[in-house]
Amino acid sequence: MKTALITGASKGIGLEIARELCAKGYHVLLAARNPHAGSETASRLVRQKYVCTFVPMDVSDSASIREAHRQVSTKIQHLDVIINNAGVMLDHSQSILAVSESLLLSTLQTNAIGALTVVQAFLPLMQRGGRIINVSSSGGQITNGASTFAPAYCISKTTMNAITLQLSSALASEGIAVNAMCPGWVQTEMGGAGAPRSVSQGADTAVWLATEAPQSLTGKFLRDRKEISW
Ligand SMILES: NC(=O)c1ccc[n+]([C@@H]2O[C@H](COP(=O)([O-])OP(=O)(O)OC[C@H]3O[C@@H](n4cnc5c(N)ncnc54)[C@H](OP(=O)(O)O)[C@@H]3O)[C@@H](O)[C@H]2O)c1
Repeated sequence: MKTALITGASKGIGLEIARELCAKGYHVLLAARNPHAGSETASRLVRQKYVCTFVPMDVSDSASIREAHRQVSTKIQHLDVIINNAGVMLDHSQSILAVSESLLLSTLQTNAIGALTVVQAFLPLMQRGGRIINVSSSGGQITNGASTFAPAYCISKTTMNAITLQLSSALASEGIAVNAMCPGWVQTEMGGAGAPRSVSQGADTAVWLATEAPQSLTGKFLRDRKEISW
């Protein structure tokens, strides 16, 4: 049975990715920082006859990531997929000129450095054919200039994209594919009720990258299963 670790999977896009990978027969390691929400969510999936294990993990805390890896290693011998989905948007319509150091650091810690630390910790469980998917945002695109709606958030996603390319290069010889994807503007707590996309539309490209995309596809940024600019 294939295994997939999904961070921030207690709700929103992460939960939808978890549900869809469960339905495709994966053993989902549902990681969440809130133990109550995480274990409740995993139990709900298990009651639907899916194979799902709750993993407590706060991606902004490297000790928590290490402990999650220790716990997972006692239960499974290999990991096929890592999906770095956990994310926060702490600034809204704020100018880059007013962004505080603490807000910028905590956004980067969760959205970018946390994702890298998760990969570093769990990589020993991954073999040739592994897939790493970073849930990024078009807010991180810089090819045609920067988005300004939430500068700290957008900078964190640009950083996540840079991490994606670094990891893709570092892991090419090991046959592990690393890609970033943008879910679009999705109806979740982060996206708000006015967003045009459903969670299942938002999850689609990540699920495709985890399961059906060619293994040779690596080092790309995608939306709706198609490459977009960095
Ligand atoms: N919604 C959109 O329109 C949109 C657009 C582009 C990109 N994205 C990206 O899609 C991903 C999922 O977002 P969403 O819309 O599903 O947002 P959401 O509903 O707010 O869910 C975010 C998830 O991340 C978790 N999380 C936050 N900080 C964490 C931490 N330190 N450790 C572990 N988990 C943490 C949250 O856990 P708690 O329940 O504990 O808070 C929650 O499960 C994010 O990376 C986001 O940037 C979303």
